[in-house]
Amino acid sequence: MTHQQNYGHDRLAHYTFHNEVLFLKCWTNLNLKWVEPEKLSQLYFNRFPQEQNMIHLNRCADDRHRKMLSVNVTCDNIKLPNLIIVGPQKTGTSALLSFLKLHPNVTSNLNVEGSFEEMQFFGGTNYKKGFEWYQSQFLQAADNHQIIVEKTANYFDNPVTPHLLSSMLNPDSKNHELKIIAMIADPVDRAYSWYQHMRSHNDSIATKYSPEKLFSMLPGDPEYEVTNRLRQRCLKPGFYAEHVDRWLDYFPPSQIILIDAKAFRLNPTQIMDQLLIDLNLPTSNFNYATNLRYVPEKGFYCTIKKGKTKCLGASKGRKYIPISDSLRSQLNSYYAGHNRALLKLLNRYKFNVPGWLLNF
Ligand code: A3P
Repeated sequence: MTHQQNYGHDRLAHYTFHNEVLFLKCWTNLNLKWVEPEKLSQLYFNRFPQEQNMIHLNRCADDRHRKMLSVNVTCDNIKLPNLIIVGPQKTGTSALLSFLKLHPNVTSNLNVEGSFEEMQFFGGTNYKKGFEWYQSQFLQAADNHQIIVEKTANYFDNPVTPHLLSSMLNPDSKNHELKIIAMIADPVDRAYSWYQHMRSHNDSIATKYSPEKLFSMLPGDPEYEVTNRLRQRCLKPGFYAEHVDRWLDYFPPSQIILIDAKAFRLNPTQIMDQLLIDLNLPTSNFNYATNLRYVPEKGFYCTIKKGKTKCLGASKGRKYIPISDSLRSQLNSYYAGHNRALLKLLNRYKFNVPGWLLNF
């Protein structure tokens, strides 16, 4: 069976179809019925629900798709990212991106309206804009840009992202150049940081409930449902084993770089210098010891550009009351199973184990 529309241009099609139907009626017990295409599509998608969502491919990688692209897209010199920082949120992803961009051979996408530097593409609000839009965000990349990086910090725990991302950027696993970076922070710190983030954005639930109250509610509690969305956004990205395992369904361990978020926060020069080596970036004319500096007032490392120190904005590295010991131990118990699973997974695939995970 070929694509129905092709028959419209084929003078033999009517004859072929007509006789095929007569043949089937005469020689088989098949009961042929006319069904509206819409009804047929409903039947089909009920049977194959996963096919309802469109998957954008790299249209430059296929000759037929290439011919259908708009004239504005020149596949000959197409620039697509070969490094994706996938998150999770509140682990230092913005600092990592800003540090990487200091290197002369690294560039990133243009700022996206409405979502700052984040593309929010694979599984996000911009996915419907398609391949042409995605590739157009990297047009400024020059030939000396060995690394083109995109960062969207909620890719990490979005269940559809690994599939969509690998379909476009890693087809048939031939693009071994593509690397995925995830930052692995203590999930307790991450959850608490997200809670504080929402509180400072005046989220009605975060301002009404203390973290102790929010995280100790149980199903059946009258306020459980109304607070559940915030609680899940705090807690779920920290189920690292589950999320990393899903990425491993689509990418071999050699394409995934896991960074210890605490080591990165305390000693970014060492982590970044190692990252340059892992990404095969030149180190002869660039190192982080001369491009980063600790700023005591900020309490974090900041970049040095043309002699000027530039720290990330106030929303990164916020000042808030440290997490209480009791809440930390409560959340440690909550995450114990997830952390043990992560430790097992990291050992199985020979990833480095972050210091904070060694006690599990
Ligand atoms: P807090 O604001 O809770 O301290 P992301 O960019 O992924 O959203 O992460 C924000 C977190 O990055 C901050 O959370 C902060 O702890 C951490 N971070 C690590 N290095 C940093 C740096 N050099 N400057 C600012 N924040 C940094």
